[in-house]
Amino acid sequence: MFTQLSSPTVSLPRDLPHDLFEAIADLKRELNAVILAHYYQDPDIQDVADFLGDSLGLSQQAAQTDADVIVFAGVHFMAETAKILNPNKLVLLPDLNAGCSLADSCPPDAFAEFKAKHPDHLVISYINCTADIKAMSDIICTSANAVSIVRQISVDQPIIFAPDRNLGKYVSEQSGRDLVLWQGSCMVHETFSEKKMVQLQIQYPNAEVIAHPECEPAVLRHANYIGSTTALLKYCQQSASQSFIVATEAGILHQMAKAAPHKQFIPAPPMSNCACNECPHMRLNTLEKLYLAMKNRTPEITLPEATRLAALRPMQRMLEMSV
Ligand code: 13P
Ligand code: SF4
Repeated sequence: MFTQLSSPTVSLPRDLPHDLFEAIADLKRELNAVILAHYYQDPDIQDVADFLGDSLGLSQQAAQTDADVIVFAGVHFMAETAKILNPNKLVLLPDLNAGCSLADSCPPDAFAEFKAKHPDHLVISYINCTADIKAMSDIICTSANAVSIVRQISVDQPIIFAPDRNLGKYVSEQSGRDLVLWQGSCMVHETFSEKKMVQLQIQYPNAEVIAHPECEPAVLRHANYIGSTTALLKYCQQSASQSFIVATEAGILHQMAKAAPHKQFIPAPPMSNCACNECPHMRLNTLEKLYLAMKNRTPEITLPEATRLAALRPMQRMLEMSV
């Protein structure tokens, strides 16, 4: 479990370099390291990344990098995925407590029992799950390729889809397939208020609603466009609209504003007056912790080899089915 947000693993020393951006660039050269960052990271981290992407793009980068060290600015399951693909590389995660409520919503023991109740089913798991769940799966998918992967499976083959019920429902509607869904969800994407979003649409009648498929169906039915974070970023650049209500983690707005500086991006409102549209797990990583991880070469991601090998097979199937 990686939800202990109040117990940070990294204590910050007083003698940090004055210019962290420069110090990180120096360490990158020294270690032959690559920094992979998800769009939900703090803007400073996005700005030092060699590659920014959604989960699919980051996995593809992790699969092809020739760096010796992968610094994964994301959450634990993402860094673990990089390790599954790169057993001989050092994979660093700036804060080891950067977990994921969705991954935590699918414990391996309970999932094994669930699977046993559906013995003829193929298991397609969203990449937002632990290595143990990946090891119990037949194919991994991301929000960018889930519909396409399900469509590639013979219609006679029954399918379990885990762990996100909202993505599962969306994929089921798009593919026309009945899926047996694990009832997991993401605490960030379930935070958006349909009522407040409708009020925003009245206030900004020309704005398009763009949403991530992890959002609840009540939010998705107002969306003009639904896609992975990379797809949302591309869409807002290509669309003729000048304003967008964005229903996903607020970190992506940094790249949207850079990619289309003259357009307006309005974060979809959470139910309460909180910053709940920022993922508390993702935001545990900071530029300081990223620097320290590179300097001290820790925290390192490690995995039992048997789990890694079992999790590698469905990851490879995903990569083959996504070209
Ligand atoms: P994507 O990276 O596939 O857009 O998913 C978003 C997410 O929730 C990552 O934690
Ligand atoms: Fe997990 Fe949701 Fe945070 Fe993504 S945004 S890491 S799915 S809790």
